[in-house]
Amino acid sequence: LGEAPASDRLAGKHILVTAGPTHEPIDPVRYLANRSSGRQGFAIAGALARLGARVTLVSGPVALPTPPGVARIDVETAQEMANAVAAALPADAAVMVAAVADWRVEQADHKIKKDGGAAPELALVENPDILAMLGASPRRPHLLVGFAAETDKVVEHATAKRTRKNADWIVANDVSGDVMGGNANSIHLITKTGTESWERMDKQEVARRLAERIADAL
Ligand code: CTP
Ligand code: CA
Repeated sequence: LGEAPASDRLAGKHILVTAGPTHEPIDPVRYLANRSSGRQGFAIAGALARLGARVTLVSGPVALPTPPGVARIDVETAQEMANAVAAALPADAAVMVAAVADWRVEQADHKIKKDGGAAPELALVENPDILAMLGASPRRPHLLVGFAAETDKVVEHATAKRTRKNADWIVANDVSGDVMGGNANSIHLITKTGTESWERMDKQEVARRLAERIADAL
């Protein structure tokens, strides 16, 4: 059911997309989160499906409809996202757009009570890096694309992430303005051979252009 794809450039290809924030429980009623809306990742999943790809979208908690033709798996935490990504392999390409929480709370199984004493201290432990995990995996997708939201030294930081995580491309997102949760994006596409800076455009247009580039590469 639903719309026929606009083209078959990605027919027969399986592409994995992560999107949205993750929620990390502090206790059974509270959580740590971030400002990711999921819009850019959902737009990319939709654009890839319109080129005929089979798309698996692993999404953190967001308030967005599933794009037509996309198979969506909902998760809450970074660990659940890592498991869902591993279970969705193999994939021809993976586009990791999610704003994965870097840390989770070590112990979150009992509600923290006020009890009149000092404010609680949260012991944090680092979450698995899902992009780096795919970069090092024997089942690494042929094309591995990461995102990097940066406020300063955007290209420098993103270039370092590309190498460190063994990604093919990093889409570096300049979030010094109003990008988080907003509608437009100012991005640089960092590849092995150099950096392309795209003019500021809306997230749907970033998604369309990126999907075409992925089709060129596969
Ligand atoms: N990423 C991931 N798993 C994590 C953290 C990040 O898969 N636990 C992915 C993101 O989806 C993104 C890329 O890695 O594609 C870069 O995320 P970013 O938060 O910019 O990088 P970090 O290595 O977490 O560095 P920073 O200290 O700047 O947050
Ligand atoms: Ca991070």
